[in-house]
Amino acid sequence: MLQQDEATKGGAMDFFERQWSSYRAIVEHDLMEHRAVAGATARAIDGWLAARPAEAAAPRMVDLGCGDLALLAPLLRRLPLAHYTGLDLAGVVLPLAQKALGAVPYPTYWLEGDLLAWAQGDLDERDDGGSGEQPRRTEILHSAFAIHHLDDDAKATFLQAARQRISPCGLFIWVDVFREPGESRSAYIARYSSRIHNGWPQLSSEQQEHVINHLGSFDIPADRETIAAAAAEAGWQWHWAWQGAHQAEAMAVLTPA
Ligand SMILES: C[S@@+](CC[C@H](N)C(=O)[O-])C[C@H]1O[C@@H](n2cnc3c(N)ncnc32)[C@H](O)[C@@H]1O
Repeated sequence: MLQQDEATKGGAMDFFERQWSSYRAIVEHDLMEHRAVAGATARAIDGWLAARPAEAAAPRMVDLGCGDLALLAPLLRRLPLAHYTGLDLAGVVLPLAQKALGAVPYPTYWLEGDLLAWAQGDLDERDDGGSGEQPRRTEILHSAFAIHHLDDDAKATFLQAARQRISPCGLFIWVDVFREPGESRSAYIARYSSRIHNGWPQLSSEQQEHVINHLGSFDIPADRETIAAAAAEAGWQWHWAWQGAHQAEAMAVLTPA
């Protein structure tokens, strides 16, 4: 929802705050079904944890585009993690995320940076258990509503690179907006804009315009069939674990093939 360029340029704090407050309103009114997403995420992680051998070590978790953790924090507080890393392009959200999470019985790390750079191993994660030449791997990778900011080539590159960052028995939960098979980006933007105009009365018309401008400028949702094929090519097994009511929001669970 936010772009670092926008958030860090001169006078951008106002811009950031306006954008972020529109996003907060979306979450509070559940307009993108964040509550169902939180439930589906908990089910996917709990099922994965239950299927692990009893002697398996506590899993590490990396959250790409963590935002302020408003909805994920309750789940994170009860997960038996070795450690949690929250990464976001907009460093200003990281203290909010840290505050929302509160005290947890495992170490937490907060990284300001680009999720593609993380996948490609370009961010220094020495504090995150990494060492030596090998890509540092994680057992649980999570990203919600962030990867659609990458263009299609970058999304394919991300899938290839992230495949090298996941443990052999790991789990990648990808929540995002997706286009219907064959739907053009412009048709998607028109459809989503009309949904906002007609179905989001909880937002002021100014907030609706912020969101629509953002969509038109920055959102590049993947075609759901094309991206599943790109994931298979990158060595992932793809499973749709949750679908929202609007042919846009969805959750895919990816595991190493
Ligand atoms: C719509 S918010 C979602 C936040 C949170 N994951 C949630 O589900 O509520 C998208 C977040 O992704 C971050 N983001 C966008 N592009 C990113 C990128 N390339 N790398 C890292 N974070 C990014 C934004 O700064 C923002 O905090």
